[in-house]
Amino acid sequence: MNNAIQTGIRPHIRGPCHASGDPDATQSLRATHIGLVHIALVAMLTALVAAPLWAEEGTTLAALEIAYGREKNAQADRLAFAAEAEREGHCDAACLFRASARAESIHAARIGAAIEQLDARPAWVLASVVVGSTAENLQACLDREIAERDRVYERFDTYAREECLYDAAAVLQYAREAGATEVGAFQAALDRLKNEQTPPAIASASPREIDDGPAENCAATYYLCPGDGSLFSIPTPRGCPNCGTRGSRMLVLSCISGGRGSELAGRVAVR
Ligand SMILES: [Fe+2]
Ligand SMILES: [Zn+2]
Repeated sequence: MNNAIQTGIRPHIRGPCHASGDPDATQSLRATHIGLVHIALVAMLTALVAAPLWAEEGTTLAALEIAYGREKNAQADRLAFAAEAEREGHCDAACLFRASARAESIHAARIGAAIEQLDARPAWVLASVVVGSTAENLQACLDREIAERDRVYERFDTYAREECLYDAAAVLQYAREAGATEVGAFQAALDRLKNEQTPPAIASASPREIDDGPAENCAATYYLCPGDGSLFSIPTPRGCPNCGTRGSRMLVLSCISGGRGSELAGRVAVR
């Protein structure tokens, strides 16, 4: 569902691949105008509650900046969530959070490069993160990835096409599709966590079984595309279906656990 709400900013009605520029304006007035519009666009797009229906000049750059901040913050959030999952002993979830953090860093790098192509500098502000329980954190990631797939990046991609910035549009489309690969992974991890927490399985196990058995499946492996940051839970020998990166180039992220036997599952890393 779109949150399209017409703003007070009058859209420039233009044909496709318009020529930008106002020959009657002085350079300084034009720079001031662009600066103010840019600030307004960033504010609107950050909230996505009053996003313009049409792409003002500079909307794509503002959208890329928002996207860059989202990706960098997602990376930071997921590392914080991984630490919490480790603290709770959910090393399966911790594996996913760390693999996802790697994926987000690739999304951010690509979007940062697109910003530089528009002669701007990528910058972002670390937002505070609410670290809940691991189940809540998985749900938060799931909701975020779904929102980006269905709403945020779809809109941003449209802006880029309206401004005829097709490289930027491609980057946003790749970010959308790559992020979508995480939706299934987070949903599956959430389902596993809920099943784990089913009391009868624990109650029926003997103390010895609980002590010796794998409290968590820490053998998780994820397959990360270095091209666009798509993340898969199964090998993709034919390559990345989203960007075509060869299968031989896919990164294999295997979980390693810092050990078990204590009440904590141990620190988990991906390599
Ligand atoms: Fe992402
Ligand atoms: Zn890919």
